[in-house]
Amino acid sequence: MANAIVLTGITTSGTPHLGNYVGAIRPAIAASRRADTEAFYFLADYHALIKCQDADEVQRSTREIAASWIAFGLDTERVVFYRQSDIPEIPELAWLLSCMTAKGLMNRAHAYKAAVQDNETAGEDPDFGITMGLFSYPVLMAADILMFGAHQVPVGRDQIQHVEMARDIAQRFNHRYGEHFVLPEAVVDDDVAVLQGLDGRKMSKSYGNTIPLFLAEKDLQKHINRIKTNLLEPGERKDADTSAVFQIWQAFATPAQTAAMRARFAEGIAWGEAKKQLFELVNAELAPARRRYQELLAAPGHIEAILKAGAAKARAVSQPMMAKLRHAMGIRALA
Ligand code: TRP
Repeated sequence: MANAIVLTGITTSGTPHLGNYVGAIRPAIAASRRADTEAFYFLADYHALIKCQDADEVQRSTREIAASWIAFGLDTERVVFYRQSDIPEIPELAWLLSCMTAKGLMNRAHAYKAAVQDNETAGEDPDFGITMGLFSYPVLMAADILMFGAHQVPVGRDQIQHVEMARDIAQRFNHRYGEHFVLPEAVVDDDVAVLQGLDGRKMSKSYGNTIPLFLAEKDLQKHINRIKTNLLEPGERKDADTSAVFQIWQAFATPAQTAAMRARFAEGIAWGEAKKQLFELVNAELAPARRRYQELLAAPGHIEAILKAGAAKARAVSQPMMAKLRHAMGIRALA
């Protein structure tokens, strides 16, 4: 059987943090090394425009996220690693798909519905602040996925609905115009940790509780020292299962190290000591990538060249695909 095509996008807004690393970057890089898959990973910078209208911030985030993935050893020879906006066929396909997508389907999208709900709660007009970009976001995402014939789409839980919508749109298109699209499936990895942030809630940019990935050592230590704990004294037994310090430890430790730390919690390890050890563990995993990351940021032309090479590989797929789709829909030369 031909290799399974695995595709996922990374929205380029914000600075990558430990939660992104544990939840997305590390598992995706590991998955890309499997022999039976062909991976397409891309920077969803057109998606970023929906959330962020600060031009410099969009560029900065794209640069930082690209550098992070490369710094952690993404094999850009093997994986097709590209930037969405380098593939003009993607927005072109998004239009074709828009013409096949029921508005009612988009009305049901969670992200859009939540925005309407917030407006209603605030007593605003339901459409207040809602752009067409936000509304048609799932169509652009369907174009990303369907263009490359992705079988599997690794995503977080919040994105499952979007992949299902891509499937619906593909089905409708195939029914009308012939079997052009693979029907994609969302893949959610339940073994991957959803990291807690400094305040114990899910680590997320929207909560302002993150530990950025590439802090200088001293700042990493300071952030780790700020992780919320309770007032238990050294020598008092501590509950590992409700502790953010332990949870982050577990995401970086071997099973043996995790068992050992659990025992130390039971013995009443001091919070200061647990955090010191956590810093050392996390720092050891990040330090080599941190050096490569700094080198990459100092040479943005190198990142750009990698993305351009990825775009050439992606366009070798998207250009013929788009030609076929245009023809199927009747967008054809007249003679
Ligand atoms: N919407 C996704 C997110 O916010 C990012 C994304 C864009 C994506 N296009 C995609 C993910 C295609 C998977 C496939 O996380």
